Amino acid sequence: MAIRDIVLMGDPVLRERAAEVEEFDDDLRRLVDDMFETMYAAEGIGLAAPQIGISKRIFVLDVRDEEDEGGGRYALINPEIVESSKETDRAPEGCLSIPGLEEVVERPSRIVLRAQDPEGQPVELHGEELLSRAIQHEFDHLNGVLFLDRLSPLKRRLALKKWQRVKPDAAG
Ligand code: NI
Repeated sequence: MAIRDIVLMGDPVLRERAAEVEEFDDDLRRLVDDMFETMYAAEGIGLAAPQIGISKRIFVLDVRDEEDEGGGRYALINPEIVESSKETDRAPEGCLSIPGLEEVVERPSRIVLRAQDPEGQPVELHGEELLSRAIQHEFDHLNGVLFLDRLSPLKRRLALKKWQRVKPDAAG
């Protein structure tokens, strides 16, 4: 396993529509392992493949809290959101590709996601609260969408201004 470099907002790979995964092989499973390791090293709860410069439809999540023995850790391939609730929630979000920024984002409260696991088996997830939010945030990455795009034009402009001040030098 290896920790990969996380690309920052401004890198064009974050704006691409990522490609479907077709081969469920050891290379894919190694990539998923690296994504988990990279996410944990960065203390994130979700990471999408474009965030390590790989434009494929893959993301990993770990939204478990200390008592949560069961679900909450997922590697999801070729995901589709097949249902979204009309009801929405507002909560703060951050992104490992936009370090230093946190903004309140409104999203559907509950979603149903269909995807494949790293073995190619179908999975269906019913998400609410943090799981729902994390899935929608990571799913957006696969379509070139960042959470700042979900803000009002004014809030987005202020956030982008702040980013110019706080972005790491590596972002150029
Ligand atoms: Ni993100």
